[in-house]
Amino acid sequence: MSEKSEIFRRKNDHVRINLEEDVQSSTTSGLEHIVLNHCALPEISLENVDLSTSFLNHKLKMPLLISSMTGGTQESERINTNLALAAQSAGVAMGLGSQRAALERTAALSSFRLRRFAPDILLFANIGAVQLNYGIGVVECRELVEMATADALILHLNPLQEALQPEGDTNFDHLLPKINHLCRSLSVPVVVKEVGWGISDKVAVQLIEAGVAAIDVAGAGGTSWSQVEMFRTADETSRRIASHFRNWGIPTAQALRSVHRLNPGIPLIASGGLKTGIDIAKCLALGADLCGMAGRLLHSATTSAEEVTNVFNELSKELRICMFVCGASDIESLKNIGYSEND
Ligand SMILES: Cc1cc2nc3c(=O)[nH]c(=O)nc-3n(C[C@H](O)[C@H](O)[C@H](O)COP(=O)(O)O)c2cc1C
Repeated sequence: MSEKSEIFRRKNDHVRINLEEDVQSSTTSGLEHIVLNHCALPEISLENVDLSTSFLNHKLKMPLLISSMTGGTQESERINTNLALAAQSAGVAMGLGSQRAALERTAALSSFRLRRFAPDILLFANIGAVQLNYGIGVVECRELVEMATADALILHLNPLQEALQPEGDTNFDHLLPKINHLCRSLSVPVVVKEVGWGISDKVAVQLIEAGVAAIDVAGAGGTSWSQVEMFRTADETSRRIASHFRNWGIPTAQALRSVHRLNPGIPLIASGGLKTGIDIAKCLALGADLCGMAGRLLHSATTSAEEVTNVFNELSKELRICMFVCGASDIESLKNIGYSEND
């Protein structure tokens, strides 16, 4: 099979495996240990709780990001269309899945052209940072942003996933200067994320020095890409090796707290294992400005835009109630609400 057809097969495998198999990390996000300060006398009205916020100078109706998932194939076009329609009506942000396929096959382009469904949303283009060592440069990254009319570019860091893939791109040597060059050359902000094993405070400092505009910690506790890769391979030894990484990574709560503590000024996205509006509230209290979900949204995204909207409605109801019983009338107040930790 050619390298190009391999990318498309991999894309379909990823979605299918995420839908059909147990790909949850065996570690938790750590958010279950965070207890927000309950307020029995909120002194606000539930209906006046305001979920709106802004991120990278874009207004959002709720601090939610559809984390980067897919694109490039017919099935992924349906998923992206449902997500984009729902994002537009809910006023939330959306990340595209890796657009590498669209640089190689023009037929893949339409799954990334979502502005016809979502003209106003904060939309992120996406590519693996490691591709900067495999022939992708500033010109190609500009092309990714332009093909999607995106507002910013997300680079994902996924060394463990690449190492577990038989066809993985594992040369992560000297990426930082290339990220730095990209940040200085693109006219849109560059955001860096992990894919579910977390960004440490040390890596965050390096990225901030390189000029990234925001960081998505994408910590452990949700979708485990070692599990996904385990289900993709038929080779027994590779399966066993992948299975041993199921609990790998920095749990989301830990990554979030340490990155925020060391770099309080950097716009921060929390993701990795978030499932509810309460998780969103906890992440905001821990220092996040925006909260991302992938696995939680995938199943409804394969069904319809209405199903995705139903999930958004549920999340916003939970977040609103949570803010109400914390006595937080807006997102800024929620960020300062205070919390404790249990074991
Ligand atoms: C089907 C699927 C495909 C994904 N593809 C990408 C991708 O192309 N680029 C990327 O940055 N992250 C990708 N991710 C990772 C997510 O953006 C996210 O970081 C990770 O799944 C952890 O979040 P979760 O626990 O909410 O699922 C993908 C996730 C899923 C479920």
